[in-house]
Order: sequence, then structure tokens, then C-alpha cells
Amino acid sequence: MSRPALHWVVDLYQQIQRHISPFKVMAQATPTGASHGSSPPKLTGRAFYESIGSPKYIVAPMVERSEFAWRLLTRSYLDEERSKSFLAYSPMLHARLFGETARFRDEHFQPTRDSLVSKEKSLSSPWLDGNPNLDRPLFVQFCANKPEDLLEAAQYVAPYCDAVDLNLGCPQGIARNGHYGAFLQEDWDTIYNMINKLHKELKVPVTAKMRILDTREKTLEYAKMILSAGASILTVHGRRREQKGHNTGIADWQMIRYLREQLPPETVIFANGNILNSGDLESCLAATGADGVMSAEGNLSDPTIFANPPREHNPREYWYGAEGKGGYRMDAVFRRYLDIIHRYVFDREPPMRTPLYVPGDPEEVPQIMEASGDVAHEEVRPRKRQKRFSKQQLDPNIRSIQAHLFQLLRPLVSRHTDIRDALATTRCGDINGFERVLTMVEAAVKNGLDDHAASPNVESKLITEDGVDEESELEVTPRQTTTLKYQRPWWVCQPYIRPLPDEAIKLGAMQPRKWNASKVDSREAAGNNGDAGRRLDVFETQDQSLYHVAKEELPKPTLVFG
Ligand SMILES: Cc1cc2nc3c(=O)[nH]c(=O)nc-3n(C[C@H](O)[C@H](O)[C@H](O)COP(=O)(O)O)c2cc1C
Repeated sequence: MSRPALHWVVDLYQQIQRHISPFKVMAQATPTGASHGSSPPKLTGRAFYESIGSPKYIVAPMVERSEFAWRLLTRSYLDEERSKSFLAYSPMLHARLFGETARFRDEHFQPTRDSLVSKEKSLSSPWLDGNPNLDRPLFVQFCANKPEDLLEAAQYVAPYCDAVDLNLGCPQGIARNGHYGAFLQEDWDTIYNMINKLHKELKVPVTAKMRILDTREKTLEYAKMILSAGASILTVHGRRREQKGHNTGIADWQMIRYLREQLPPETVIFANGNILNSGDLESCLAATGADGVMSAEGNLSDPTIFANPPREHNPREYWYGAEGKGGYRMDAVFRRYLDIIHRYVFDREPPMRTPLYVPGDPEEVPQIMEASGDVAHEEVRPRKRQKRFSKQQLDPNIRSIQAHLFQLLRPLVSRHTDIRDALATTRCGDINGFERVLTMVEAAVKNGLDDHAASPNVESKLITEDGVDEESELEVTPRQTTTLKYQRPWWVCQPYIRPLPDEAIKLGAMQPRKWNASKVDSREAAGNNGDAGRRLDVFETQDQSLYHVAKEELPKPTLVFG
């Protein structure tokens, strides 16, 4: 039978199936006929979740941000116990392009050094994405609107990941035009058919990530439909489709709690939204009753968000603040990130580095130390699959370095504009340029540490008793206590506190018309979340350059839509 005819028959069969048992939630999904030969039976639902270690802490799918190197950096901070309950998602990939174009696959997914041309597991050694020694468990996310496109793409990645996730949450205009992500919310048949096809035909389980709808009832019905199609895990982002950009506001944990209570306990739910630092992880799990908690923006500004402080006292990596307000040092995280890029992406040893500074160390001029003599001055060696420099720029791990560093270093570069400028002018793929920025960061942190050692209370004076930011002389909202809860010295990883819509208007970053539509809902959601509402309602001094960076956080049309 020809491919189109076969697909037609399969689709018809699925539709009949659906009408026989419409949207019935599977208490425990069952093994399907997807496994062949000697491969073990496919587990689904909670049995599958348990088989990958019942992960509680999850790196969100993020276009141009949750690529291999960033996932590995995040994983690298986990102790043995934590890494057993950890899971990461790939960035969202466009299913049709991924299935159709070998070049697109190579530019986004690199499980071995060879081109990804077969749906069978390669006999070549594992390399980056999904490497069993480095990058598992891993879910690979796609956007799609046709079951056959999704299956085709999913089959390529299935040998190298634990599950394939369907994006039902992307709220961007590009998703509206392409009719995917959150713009499938009105098209339940399409969603059902896509998930169900993978549930029945893919060797690994299928999962889905959705946004909440306008009412509890509608959201519950929607979640049931997705689960009934065969989704083994459902991630619920507690924001509606309209909540994006400056209108992001607060995620509704109460809605996630409601779903948890209404759905059978066998269903596996991940909660997503409002995680600012590691302290919020357990609060979210307790408030929502979810099995796991997922972080996106919190992980970008602090890749150690899922980690405990170092087991041994280590002030060269970790800042021990008063009253438990510590955190990993940006210079240490930056170093580790570049080391991962050297070792895994460029296939060579990172430079030898002097130990990071702590006050009391002898004076030394920071410099790049060279291990093999080829790092600081020579042109980057091409890899097998990347013969020319321009191709390196297409590597997802290299493409994202600059944007990651802006997000990681946000409080530092807003103060040290020379470093911001150096970072902004570093070309994609110019690893030596990033090494130079690292040297500048190390010197800045050294000065910061020395200043702090000389007058330890200087940071807490930044926001004064009468609510005035001493540096910018702008008024702050009355939530200073909350600010101070999350604020760390500028050399320590810390969350970016988004202004709420009314503050975005005050800052001139959003028009009142847009805001009015969402005002009531944001307030309601804030009320639902207790401290989360207050904590996000924190003023951040406007800095145009940082807003420029924030704009760059949006998914890139070329990647998302092709
Ligand atoms: C830079 C960036 C890229 C994102 N890309 C994706 C994506 O590829 N797929 C997806 O489902 N969600 C994506 N999201 C949404 C996040 O996964 C997450 O649902 C959202 O940011 C809310 O979580 P948070 O409050 O922890 O940031 C992205 C978010 C950010 C900030």
C-alpha cells in the first residue's frame, strides 16, 4: 500500500477508536505494539515515569537555550542523589523540518558524530544529545500539527531519548501562523490524533506540555483529552496563552492543584511556572501536588537552581551569604560552562586555569592559562562535521553561548558596562573572545569580593528604608522584603524578577490596552499564589540594554518556524 493510502487507513482507524472511547483518561497506560524484536516492552504512564527514576526536578524545553551544553552544565551541579531525580528537555524542534531535512537535523540534534540519516540506532559511539553517559534522561520536544510529521521526526530521535514531547504551549505569533503550540488549543482532534499516533507507533512514550485555559472545567477537560490520547506525562504551565512577554504575570498554581486533585493519581503531572530560585522548588511541589517541577527562566539565570550547595566548604565556587542567602558564583559557573564547550563541543581539553580568587589570596593578574597551547591564540580546530567556521555557527551549543552569558551575568553586566559591551561584540563561535570576557568577569568578581570584604553591608544598602534605589534614585514598589529575599550580591547567580504588567506600563515597556485585558487575571492568579504574587511584583531598575537582551530571549522564527 502506498504511504498516503496507508496513512489514510491509520487515521481512519484512529478516528473510529476515538469515537469508541472518547477522551477516557487512562489510569495506567499499557504497553503498546510499538516495541519490536528483542527490545523491552514499552512502558507508559506512571510505570514509565518510575522507570526513569521518578524525576522531580526538570529543565524546561527552551528554544535556543536548553541545548546539550546547557543541560550538561545544569546536570554538573547535581549531587548523586539529585541527579537520580532529574530530567531535561531539548529545545522545541520543528517536526516537519526535522523529518524532511538532514541538514536541519544535524544543526539541532547530534547524538553521534555522523549525520542523523537513519531511524535505527547508530552503531557509532554516542556523542552529545542523549549520550547515555552524559545526557539522560532526556525528552525531545517537537511542535507539529500533523500526526505523520510528528511521528516521522520522533522516530529519528527515539533511539537517543527517553520520550518525545509535544509542544502545546508556544504562544508566539510564529506559532499562530504555523498553527502549532498553544494555537492548537481549539483543535482537539488534531492534538488527540498526534499524541495517539505516537502512543501507538513510537518506540518511546509520548508526553505533552500544555498551558492552562480560561476556566478550571475547560482546563480539566483539555488535560483529560491529552491523557486519553496516550500522553504518559502532562506538563502544565500555569499560564494562559495570552500571558507572554511583558504580560507574562503569575502562573496559577491553584489550577495545577485542581488538576492534580481531579485526575487519577496514576497520571503523572509536572508543574511549571513561578520558580525563581531553588527555595521555590519544594513550595511548588507542595502547593500543586505535582510529581515534578519544571523551571525555564529560573534555570537560565541560575543553572545551579536544582543543586544543593557544595558538600565541602568551597568559597571559590559558592558565596556563603548571611542567613542562608548564598549561591554559586557567576565567575565559577561561567568557567564551568566554557570548559564544557571546550571539552564536549570543541573536543579538546579546556585551558588550565588558576584557582578562582577568594579574599586573602596573593595578588595575581588574572590570565588565560594554556594547557595544550592551542586555545588562546589559534583558530578553532574544525570538527569532523563542521569543516568551516560558518558551520560552527550553526551548532546549537555554540549559537547560544552569548545569549546564555547575558542571562547568567545580567546583574553583573548591568553594573560593569565594559563587560556588557565586550560580550555584545563577541562573535558567535569566537571562543577566545568569550575567554577574554571570562577574564574580565573574574577580575570584576575579585574586586567585588574585595569591596565586600572591606565593607560587608554595602549590598543590603542598595534599597533604602524609604524605598529608594540609591544608585538609580528611582522609587521601588513597597515589596523590599521580597526583593531582599531573592537578591544576592551581583556576582552570585540569582533570578531575574520580571515586572508585572502594571510595572511594565510604568516602565514604558507595555501599552495600557494590552495590560487591561490581562489585569484581572493576573491579579487573581497572584492572589491564588500567595507569596508568588508578591515576589514577582518586584521592581527592577529599567536598563534599556537589558530589555534588549530580554527581547532576544524569544524563540527565533528561523528555528521555530523555518
Ligand atoms: C528562552 C525561552 C525559550 C522557551 N522555549 C520553549 C520551548 O521550546 N518549548 C516549550 O514548551 N516552552 C518553551 N518556553 C517556555 C518554558 O518552557 C516555560 O514553560 C515558561 O518559561 C514558564 O516557565 P518559567 O516560569 O520557569 O520560566 C521557553 C521559555 C523561554 C524563557
